[in-house]
This record gives sequence, structure tokens and C-alpha cells, in this order.
Amino acid sequence: MDTIGWGVLGPGRIARSFASDLLAVPEGRLVATGSRDEQRAADFAAEFGGRSHGSYEALVADPEVDVVYVATPHVLHDEHTRLALAAGKAVLCEKPMTLDAASTTALFAEAADRGLFLMEAMWMACHPTIRTLLRLLASGDYGSPRQVHAAIGFVVPGATDGGEQSGRLLDPALGGGALLDMGIYPLTFAHLVLGEPERLTAVANLSALGIDLDVSVAGLYPGGATAALTATLTSHPSVTATVATESGWFDLPSRFYTPQRLRWTSYAEPAGSSEWIEPDEPVIGLGYGNEIQEAHRCLRAGALTSTLVPPGQTISLMGQMDTILEEIGVSYRR
Ligand SMILES: NC(=O)c1ccc[n+]([C@@H]2O[C@H](COP(=O)([O-])OP(=O)(O)OC[C@H]3O[C@@H](n4cnc5c(N)ncnc54)[C@H](OP(=O)(O)O)[C@@H]3O)[C@@H](O)[C@H]2O)c1
Repeated sequence: MDTIGWGVLGPGRIARSFASDLLAVPEGRLVATGSRDEQRAADFAAEFGGRSHGSYEALVADPEVDVVYVATPHVLHDEHTRLALAAGKAVLCEKPMTLDAASTTALFAEAADRGLFLMEAMWMACHPTIRTLLRLLASGDYGSPRQVHAAIGFVVPGATDGGEQSGRLLDPALGGGALLDMGIYPLTFAHLVLGEPERLTAVANLSALGIDLDVSVAGLYPGGATAALTATLTSHPSVTATVATESGWFDLPSRFYTPQRLRWTSYAEPAGSSEWIEPDEPVIGLGYGNEIQEAHRCLRAGALTSTLVPPGQTISLMGQMDTILEEIGVSYRR
């Protein structure tokens, strides 16, 4: 593999950001785009490079494609990841990988059986500023993390104004809802900082169609650490996070899952002194470039899974969301 050939499956909104960052990673290139619509694929290819295919089947059959980026709505991730694996392709699949832990576990087993790489596109875990935070916490120099707060969301048109509740984020048939689309970030953030939760409990405001418009999660983690995590489709929160230790706190400014830098405020004397800390490595593009780089590192090493976004983490997060969805009364089973 000289250059790694990427195939985009589902050229929607996030695929545009991904393809734009791919241009900034020299060892990879977009070789093909597959859409349900020939013209959409051709337009995407004209903008970002490579060939176009008028079906996902043709995309995964393209011999130049080494790795498929699955960027369709959540409900289709399982089907489209299986399609790519069956064609012998490695896969980077958008978050959430599926709609529950059981199917995510089965997907990883399928990839392992076929000897193919599979990774959830949880770019936050590959982000240099987040990795710098985790390194600083692991050093012990800042105390141990005791409490995490994180908020995410934005106003989705139609969520509150009484208008038609349509579009991917509000449509149960497409896996809509605040938790699966956005809540996965604060939950993953708490998991990265505090580890495996011992208990999660949640409340939510549901739409007329039965998906969560607003959700608040409280978590208990090892050693008595706790987290307060929120996601909303009806308001504009700060999209910031804090991590409090016995010695002070880290602020992750907006947007906390892709911060340019972080701030440490020490509670020791002189009380309240703050310093901004830059990431250890450069952020590539919007930050998707670092996720692409991680996939490349794994592919070149012949690894079937990522150490920055390991299957255990992806499966745990899906299990955490299973628990929360059950508690708040949201079900995607048809
Ligand atoms: N990592 C991130 O920062 C990030 C940000 C946003 C979203 N995401 C994830 O990425 C996935 C896609 O989100 P998005 O916002 O890019 O969605 P989007 O703009 O709606 O694009 C999804 C694409 O999937 C294809 N598709 C196939 N079947 C479809 C169907 N039945 N309905 C709608 N689209 C269908 C469409 O492409 P064709 O019809 O052309 O094939 C469409 O352009 C989601 O799982 C989401 O969680 C990740």
C-alpha cells in the first residue's frame, strides 16, 4: 500500500468534512465515491477527486478502494459495513456504529473473522487536544479526575417550533434523537477520562415521534467519580466540558470534542491561576485528519482494530446507550 485508497459511501454532510480533511493527509486519497444517485456521486468526485459510482455495491467492488468510509445514517451502518466487509474492504464507520451493543459486537466479530480492519469514526478520541488531556491526567501531576461535565447540541429546525418533524436527526426511522447522534460525545468523553461507568441514569424529553429531543445523563464511575452529561436538539448549549480533580480543573472550550487547546486552573496557591495548554501534536484540518491518520497507522501495521478507538470502547458505549435508551423509553425496534 503506497497511498491508501479511500472510498466514501454516502456523500452527505459529514462525508464532505471528511473528504476535505483527507486532502490534508498526504498518504491517503479519495479514489471513489458511491451514492444511491449517480449525479450526487459525480458532483462529490468532481469536488474532492476520484471516480464516482451510482451504487454502494459498485463502490465496494472498486479494486482501487482499500478502505471504505461509511457515512450513511446510523440505521444503515450495519448493512453498509457488512457490504464493504463482504467485498474484502477495511471499514471506518461513522458513529454510532449501529443501534445497539449486540449488533456492534457482531460487526466486530465479522470483521475479525474476515481478517479486516474495522474502526468507529469516533474522531474525538484521535484528537490531539483530547489525547493531550488524557496524557496530562495520566501523569498524576494534576490530581485524579473526580467529576466531568459536558454539554452538546444545537437547535434542530422543526424540533420545537411545531413544524414538521422531519430530517435525519428527528426521524426515528433514520435513528434520530439527541443521544445516539450527539450524546455519544459527552458519554465517550466521560469514558475516556473516568473509565467504565458503574451506573448510569437518565431523564429525557421525547418528541411526538418518540425520539429524545433532550437528554441528561448522570454517571457513577470507579472510585466514586461522577459525570453530568447532556445533549439537546432544542437549545444552544455551551458545548464545553470540564474535568475537576482534587487540585483544580480543566476547561475544554467550545466545541469540547474538537478543542484547539485546553485550560488548566489550579486551585492551589495562588488560587485560581490558569494556563492555556496547546496540544502535543498538530490538529489536521478540522480534526478528522487525525482520525484518518490513525486508520492509516493501523492499516499499515496490519492491525484489525485501533488502539485509540478500540472495539471494547465502541461496544461499551453502545451498551451504555442501550441502558439509557431503555430508561428513557426510546426504542428503534420496528
Ligand atoms: N463525526 C462527525 O463529526 C459526524 C458529524 C455528523 C454526522 N456524523 C454521522 O455521520 C452519519 C451521517 O450523517 P450526515 O449528517 O452526514 O447525514 P446526511 O447529510 O443525511 O448524509 C447521509 C448520506 O447517506 C446516504 N443515505 C443512504 N440512505 C439514506 C437514507 N435512507 N436517508 C438519508 N440518507 C441516506 C445519502 O447519500 P446518497 O443518497 O447520496 O447515497 C446521504 O447523503 C450519521 O451516522 C452521523 O451520526 C458524524
